[in-house]
Amino acid sequence: MDTKVVNLLVQQINKEFYSAYLYLDFSNYMYDKGLSGFGNWFKIQAQEERDHALLFLQYLQNSGIRPELSAIDKPAIELSDPKQVLAETLKHEQYVTSLINDIYEAAFSVKDFRTMQFLDWFVKEQGEEEMNANDLITRYDLFGGDPKGLYMLDSELGGRVYSAPSLQL
Ligand code: FEO
Repeated sequence: MDTKVVNLLVQQINKEFYSAYLYLDFSNYMYDKGLSGFGNWFKIQAQEERDHALLFLQYLQNSGIRPELSAIDKPAIELSDPKQVLAETLKHEQYVTSLINDIYEAAFSVKDFRTMQFLDWFVKEQGEEEMNANDLITRYDLFGGDPKGLYMLDSELGGRVYSAPSLQL
């Protein structure tokens, strides 16, 4: 495999684990504010990010590569209110989309069609993650200003359950 593609895939393991860590921090913030439904939503989001990291790891292992794992940064975003947390979520997902696109571009440039095919799932997933973050912002804007509306929204998010990724390697 091309060295640049491999390095980007290895880095992505770290980025996905960082995403998990970031969303755990967001989850902690929401629980602390009494919004346990939002807290649950972000905790499950963290589980999904861990799954993404493990998929990148598995893909490299399946390619006969032993990826070197690096330290995960401390989540460093100062959190001030729930709306800001949601905005940071969308911003972070847009950043992750750009990372996936960069790997895709590197794979394309060396005709690594197998990696492109692997990444197709993530391209679709990023579309969904951005849509979900956008949707949360819209609904928070609509209902978050009213205590009853916020309670209902929080209760709904409390019902989110974890499911394993549809991609199996
Ligand atoms: Fe693994 Fe939310 O991107």
